[in-house]
Amino acid sequence: MHPPLGIYVVLGSLTQTCLGFSVPRTTPCPSLTVTPPDGASLINITATERYNVTYDGPTFNGPAGSVDICDVEVFLTHGDAGDAVRFAIYLPLKGWNGRWQGTGGGGFAAGEFDFELVSAVTSGYSAGATDAGVNLAGDTDVWYNSTQLVENFVHLSFHEMTVLGKELSENFYGKKPEYSYWFGCSTGGRQGMSEAQRYPEDYDGIFAGAPAINWDKLVVADYWPLAVQNQAGEPVSLCKLGAIGNASVHDCDLLDGAADGLISNPVKCGFDAKSIVGREVKCDGNTTTITEQDATVWNKIRNGFKDEDGKLLWYGLEPGTDLLDQAIQPGFLVSIQWIRDFLLRNPSLDVSDIKENELVDLLHQSVSGFGDLWGTDNPDLSAYSERGGKILTWHGWADNLISPLGTLDYWQRVVDLAGGEEKTDEFYRVFMAPGLGHCGGGPGPQIPADSLAPLVEWVENGKAPETILFSGNGQSRNICKFPKELEYSGSGNISDAASWKCV
Ligand SMILES: *[C@@H]1O[C@H](CO)[C@@H](O)[C@H](O)[C@H]1NC(C)=O
Ligand SMILES: *[C@@H]1O[C@H](CO)[C@@H](O)[C@H](O)[C@H]1NC(C)=O
Ligand SMILES: *[C@@H]1O[C@H](CO)[C@@H](O)[C@H](O)[C@H]1NC(C)=O
Ligand SMILES: *[C@@H]1O[C@H](CO)[C@@H](O)[C@H](O)[C@H]1NC(C)=O
Ligand SMILES: *[C@@H]1O[C@H](CO)[C@@H](O)[C@H](O)[C@H]1NC(C)=O
Ligand SMILES: *[C@@H]1O[C@H](CO)[C@@H](O)[C@H](O)[C@H]1NC(C)=O
Repeated sequence: MHPPLGIYVVLGSLTQTCLGFSVPRTTPCPSLTVTPPDGASLINITATERYNVTYDGPTFNGPAGSVDICDVEVFLTHGDAGDAVRFAIYLPLKGWNGRWQGTGGGGFAAGEFDFELVSAVTSGYSAGATDAGVNLAGDTDVWYNSTQLVENFVHLSFHEMTVLGKELSENFYGKKPEYSYWFGCSTGGRQGMSEAQRYPEDYDGIFAGAPAINWDKLVVADYWPLAVQNQAGEPVSLCKLGAIGNASVHDCDLLDGAADGLISNPVKCGFDAKSIVGREVKCDGNTTTITEQDATVWNKIRNGFKDEDGKLLWYGLEPGTDLLDQAIQPGFLVSIQWIRDFLLRNPSLDVSDIKENELVDLLHQSVSGFGDLWGTDNPDLSAYSERGGKILTWHGWADNLISPLGTLDYWQRVVDLAGGEEKTDEFYRVFMAPGLGHCGGGPGPQIPADSLAPLVEWVENGKAPETILFSGNGQSRNICKFPKELEYSGSGNISDAASWKCV
């Protein structure tokens, strides 16, 4: 059983005097209070000790155990906006590692809460999540027209969460966190980049996986495969698209020196689906033939979102990517909602039949109307690099939702502004993983169990990562720091990381 609270407080002050390195708790959990950040006011705060908190199911940022925490739930509002933003700040009762961790969301959910929080506190971090005051189910029809809620979602709420989390950590443990880290993938990755761009003081290290930066472009581009299908009339089945994709992998597999079913640098793959027109493939037990039309659809999806003049508006998907719900009705929900609620401002509209030219217009509208606020692609990271901050990104080459080339587009713009790759390496490193899907999945080696570990080494011990180990699906690879790429060394088991080098 957990000892009564009083004993902890006494033990806290005793260990402080006797052992020096132990962490005292100055305020008992239920008495914790906060000063609302500038511009916000407190609706309520409740702080409760909870024991043996666990998370069932797969986790993302390290293993989840069974931990005792002080769970601080805070609600804030802004002026007369009528918003109520929820913040969950978890403070481990024992074994705080002196670090604060902000955790991010996915899609139109600003936070993942226990999915990320429980593993964070298991590792000893104090950690937080927020819902941005918009619902976690991602129903954008109820908030797209609120300026305050949009601002909360785009950048404000997770900054405020950071301010609250650091303050609560200090009030509870009696000292400020020594280091602070951001953890997030997809929308969570975008949030991390927003912190670096807008609030550079918030984090010492930011892990931004497959970041949904370039939001205004990529979310419209996520409709491109469906627009191509709508344009073509009779949609090509996912199975046929998959069969063409398999042919592309087969064609380009040896470019990196090994027939491992993975393409280390898909940009080098020049596969043209027209080359397999007439080939018979098996789909759902039936034999079917790849037609000109099938090839045209696949090529258009792969080659990216283009206007009538062939100008590239946003990047396509790389060979080896499983085309999923974004390529077939009813489409990818986040992109449907973006177009319907934010661009067309009519939640009851049916947007299932948008064709290519119509989507081009929507993209221009999205960029001009939403790019500045939502884009999160400002390449000027000078304030962040000058305060010593580090950013680590990995991105799957087989990401079906966020084109990996969008991350590289941004990386290049950062490099150009920062004065070269070497300068950029000092604060921002990108790792491109073959056969990895969106924040996980796909046929390739899988994400590290703890993506923060190499970042912590970099921030606290100055050991910048050159490679990061990914394993899963029977294979492992030391993923190279971009622009280096994997090449088979010519001997050894092709499934083993040791048989590959970065060139
Ligand atoms: C927490 O788990 C431990 C070990 O299983 C158990 O002894 C203890 O009673 C649990 N505490 C509570 C409050 O459930
Ligand atoms: C705090 O405020 C929120 C938002 O108004 C509300 O949903 C919640 O029930 C309140 N919690 C408590 C403990 O009063
Ligand atoms: C915003 O949209 C919601 C749902 O469509 C509606 O209830 C609300 O009145 C709208 N608010 C404004 C300020 O237009
Ligand atoms: C494509 O390859 C994958 C992996 O080998 C396989 O599971 C899938 O069935 C293939 N698809 C088709 C249509 O052959
Ligand atoms: C496979 O062929 C059978 C017989 O022609 C047909 O009934 C069935 O719908 C086909 N399945 C698919 C998935 O096309
Ligand atoms: C190569 O490594 C994989 C993964 O470790 C293993 O399953 C496989 O048996 C190895 N193959 C050979 C020929 O040793």
